[in-house]
Amino acid sequence: MSAAADRRALWRDLVERRLPDAARPGWPVRLDHCFARILLDNACGGPWRESVRPPAHVNMPEEGLEAAIALGEAVLAGAADLALLNRRSLAWRGKAVHSGAVPPVPADLRDGELHLRRWLPADVAPFAALNADPEVMAHLLGPRTGPESAAEARALDGRFAADGFGPWAVEQGGRFRGFVGALRVMRALPFPGGGRPGEAVELAWRLARDAWGRGLATRAARLALADIAGRCGIRTVVAYTATGNHRSRAVMERLGMVPSGTFAHPAVPEEPTRTHVLYRLDLAGAAA
Ligand SMILES: CC(C)(COP(=O)(O)OP(=O)(O)OC[C@H]1O[C@@H](n2cnc3c(N)ncnc32)[C@H](O)[C@@H]1OP(=O)(O)O)[C@@H](O)C(=O)NCCC(=O)NCCS
Repeated sequence: MSAAADRRALWRDLVERRLPDAARPGWPVRLDHCFARILLDNACGGPWRESVRPPAHVNMPEEGLEAAIALGEAVLAGAADLALLNRRSLAWRGKAVHSGAVPPVPADLRDGELHLRRWLPADVAPFAALNADPEVMAHLLGPRTGPESAAEARALDGRFAADGFGPWAVEQGGRFRGFVGALRVMRALPFPGGGRPGEAVELAWRLARDAWGRGLATRAARLALADIAGRCGIRTVVAYTATGNHRSRAVMERLGMVPSGTFAHPAVPEEPTRTHVLYRLDLAGAAA
């Protein structure tokens, strides 16, 4: 059997046998197709059939299948909250509200001419353009294709439905400039507090090259932070980037984030971008 066929067989065994056999009284589901729905939706960042042709065990791209397997293994190991993953999946399918008692997502956040809002279909083209720029993507595994960017835009906006917060589309002077906001970290990462998928919340940003050097990322991050601290009650956020990404590190430092060590990012195969610096920010006082 090829390595890919092995992984597909492992996936089927995971959702058809190991997870149903391990089902505990507190788990929200017990049936194989429910486990598959939850893991595939979370790996795709939305209802999986919107991006993958059934059957998923044949057509799911390798990276997505690995993400789904990792989440399933984390559930089995007691390291991921199946109820949280299920609420996210149901929220994307319009069957439940997002997790917890978080007040509704505001229509937008504003600071003068700086406008943070939900994503629009018209953002996909300028987002694809910035994702195709090697300078913007220098620390992010390189440029993305148009279809990859369209899928990423959909998944980024889907965060708001799943979690009640997410990466805002940033607009200035009526132009889409990129995104800034908070995301639940949905994979286990090797830093203290990063081992349980879905628990840590990270700040992330990506702007078009001609929007750099104007303070937009820092201002937008402050708006997003005030929202998640006040409305969502989030107490701690992290941010991380490749060690050599000095512009991103400078944003973390302007925000008052505290350097908290380094880790090897499991999704990055080699240096110079594998080693990441970690920063933390305590928001406990920010909600007042
Ligand atoms: C990371 C990134 C968002 C930082 O953007 P940025 O514009 O450098 O960051 P800020 O918004 O904090 O702006 C700070 C700059 O604006 C300048 N500035 C101008 N007007 C300003 C104002 N009113 N307020 C604050 N800063 C201002 C600052 O002097 C500083 O410029 P300098 O770095 O040349 O000294 C951007 O480089 C990017 O999108 N990179 C590619 C994607 C990426 O790597 N993302 C991170 C992955 S983890």
